[in-house]
Formats: sequence, C-alpha cells, structure tokens
Amino acid sequence: MSASPLRLGVNVDHVATLRNARGGTMPDPVRAAQAAVAAGADGITAHLREDRRHIRDADVERLRREIDRPLNFEMAATEEMLGIALRLTPHAACLVPEKREERTTEGGLDIVGGREHLAPVIGRLGEAGVRVSLFVEPEVHVMEAARALGAPVVELHTGTYCEAVIAGDAAKVRSELARLSRAAEHGHALGLEIHAGHGLTVDSVGPVAALPQLRELNIGHALMAEAIFDGLPAAIRAMRAAMEAGRRQAQDGTRA
Ligand code: PXP
Repeated sequence: MSASPLRLGVNVDHVATLRNARGGTMPDPVRAAQAAVAAGADGITAHLREDRRHIRDADVERLRREIDRPLNFEMAATEEMLGIALRLTPHAACLVPEKREERTTEGGLDIVGGREHLAPVIGRLGEAGVRVSLFVEPEVHVMEAARALGAPVVELHTGTYCEAVIAGDAAKVRSELARLSRAAEHGHALGLEIHAGHGLTVDSVGPVAALPQLRELNIGHALMAEAIFDGLPAAIRAMRAAMEAGRRQAQDGTRA
C-alpha cells in the first residue's frame, strides 16, 4: 500500500516536569505547544496524570483554549479523568495505563482483561465527540480486542523497539519492527486508525515512520531533550526530517 501523510503530535509533558522542579511558571508548556505548532507540529499531546507530576489541570484547560491544533489528551480510564475529558472535549483522548510508582507509561493498556471497565469509558467519550485512541502493545489479538471495543484508533507502544535500538540489539530490533508491522497491518485491515509512540528518537523513528498504515506519531521526551541544545523548532524539524526520510525510503522500496 502507498503511505498516507504522517502527522507529528508533540507531547509537552516534560516542559511541565522542568517547570515543576522549581515551582513557579517557567518553562510554560503552553508556550512550548505554541512554539511546536509554529515549527510544524500537527497536534499537541499532554498527559494529565492522577498525581499531577507534570501537566496540571490548568495546563490542559489552557492547551484546549489557546492552541489552534488538535489536542490529544492522554488519560487513565478513571471517573475523574473522564469527567475532565467530557468537560474539555479535546479532539482526542488516548487511554493509557497508569501506575503511581512508574517513571513513565510502562506497557500498553490491558484491553482484553480491562474490557468491562473500558467499554463504557470509550462509549461516553465517543458520544461526546472525542476520538478515542487506545495505547496498546503491538499484537494482532490486541487489534481484534480494540476493534471489538469500538475504539476508532490504536496507538502502538514503541517502547520495547526503542529500547532494543538503544541496546544495539539488531535481532530484537528486527523482531520488534516485525511485531509493529503485523499489528499495524492487521489493525488497519480491521478499520482502525494506527498511531504509534513512546521512546522514539531521531535515530529510531525512521523504520516506524516507514510503516505505511501509520497516520500519527506522538513524541515528547526526545524532542524536549534535544531542544535544550538546539531549541524546540530545530528539534521538531530534525524529527520531521527523520520521519519523512523513513517514509520516503519505504515508498521507494515499494516502487523498486
Ligand atoms: N504516547 C503515549 C501514549 C505516551 O504515554 C507517551 C509518553 O507520555 C508518548 C506517546 C511519548 O513518549 P516519549 O515522551 O517517550 O516520546
């Protein structure tokens, strides 16, 4: 299949992490979101965690009001977060697992075991016009479960692939890419829109961007890390260039 355009959603959580390290107001995640949009981000992502360790309620309110791009609201499937999402009606809500003690989102959502709990949350968000995405492990049976739950979008967890890239484990990189590819293909065939994210860097994004079924990548930490040295616009431009190079290579490969 030929690849459709690939959107970049910029996650601004770690601008808030830095702000919260000192209290006060700087750096401002909303200003970062504005800079990201000016540099070509297609959307902004923010995760309001139960413990408010980075993004806070006022940040999401402002992102919704002040940013002229789709907001992807990452949330745990709790009554509190559902209430906030239904009030703010962001463009999208990405349901993620959340454990208090974790440093970042570890592993995908258990949508097979959590079916009974998730179905009404997905239903209520959908009725409110919020596009629901499920952050899941890239497995074929999980695509089936997402379809059965009625979510229009899945975001494939790229964390294990990215760890293999960092470890220089070529065999694991290949097997993880194959797992991502099978899940993307199967999910797409079932009618799901396919997104991916977690841990992606300019060095690892290319082969993921090359998957033709992908419509959106959500990236945060690596962009903010590079922004310290090069500035956020340059970091976003470099990520986009790496995404486009991966996408082009795949298209050239298909044509060859
Ligand atoms: N997608 C989801 C669902 C996430 O939870 C995260 C991390 O907040 C990301 C994407 C972005 O990951 P990273 O910050 O490692 O780029």
